[in-house]
Amino acid sequence: WILMVTAQTPTNIAVIKYWGKRDESLILPVNDSISVTLDPEHLCTTTTVAVSPSFEQDRMWLNGKEISLSGGRFQSCLREIRARATDVENKEKGIKISKKDWEKLHVHISSFNNFPTAAGLASSAAGFACLVFSLAKLMNVKEDHSQLSAIARQGSGSACRSLYGGFVKWIMGKEENGSDSLAVQLADEKHWGELVIIIAVVSSRQKETSSTSGMRESVETSLLLQHRAKEVVPKRTVKMEEAIQNRDFASFAGLTCADSNQFHAVCLDTCPPIFYMNDTSHRIISCVEKWNRSEEAPQVAYTFDAGPNAVLIARNRKAASLLLQRLLYYFPPNADTDMNSYVLGDKSI
Ligand code: DP6
Repeated sequence: WILMVTAQTPTNIAVIKYWGKRDESLILPVNDSISVTLDPEHLCTTTTVAVSPSFEQDRMWLNGKEISLSGGRFQSCLREIRARATDVENKEKGIKISKKDWEKLHVHISSFNNFPTAAGLASSAAGFACLVFSLAKLMNVKEDHSQLSAIARQGSGSACRSLYGGFVKWIMGKEENGSDSLAVQLADEKHWGELVIIIAVVSSRQKETSSTSGMRESVETSLLLQHRAKEVVPKRTVKMEEAIQNRDFASFAGLTCADSNQFHAVCLDTCPPIFYMNDTSHRIISCVEKWNRSEEAPQVAYTFDAGPNAVLIARNRKAASLLLQRLLYYFPPNADTDMNSYVLGDKSI
């Protein structure tokens, strides 16, 4: 017999960034972070997990290609979920798996991203969140989303925020064992339905410095990171939560842009400095800043992760269509502008 579960998890975009760990193996951050989860049909991972007595070892395929499960992060997630497995009964198939059987049974995992992995948008966030969620369903784990988020966190920090839709906060926690470092939902996906997210794919090249090693170097060398974690982010997250609750776009945009800029300033303050944005990213920032200043109120917020691609959050559909017109005029997708394509909801240009 074989028993299968399929789940789908969207990626999330941080508006208050996570950058720096206080514990590398448990993945415990130096500050709280806040993100918005994309709609499930855009930029998401679909994972099927299967269990069968005929499986001789745990195996995983990513986009159809087998990958190694030997990494510590995969093993942590698998171990934590297995430890919480409970009895499973499928009367239709006549299958009964007891809590103890799960220790001996092996799983096969197949995961697909609905966006090209090479587009520089591949994110471990959706991947690990989906892996943990689907395994938890298969093994009938009773823990709630927040407790599962603490397991997904051990796969990749940002993954813990993809267990919820809408606006999500990853509380850094205080405990040494990480039990209180988990995600909570601030507002659900219906709360601020007007916002539209456009992603400008500036470069499809793989980033030179991974988030994991980049943040390690920042923790070791950047004084600005210490200041940011202790003085800036605690106050900023309070203001961001207020802006989200009140759907105050001006405040939301101001905080989002400032936080992205400070994260990249920390990267520059790292020794040796890390450059994630390129000239096109900088030109997009100038373009948005200029436009926002020419209007009565800001129309668009920008934020950049560990790469040059711009995530642009428009206040409503009208602002989004004006933004797209401007982007296509100033940054048509071609070699001269260094622009690859735009991802707007489910439409790629
Ligand atoms: C810039 O979650 O990819 O996107 O925990 O080492 O796997 P690891 O790092 P990761 O870092 C994400 C960094 C970021 C900001 C964010 O998503 O908050």
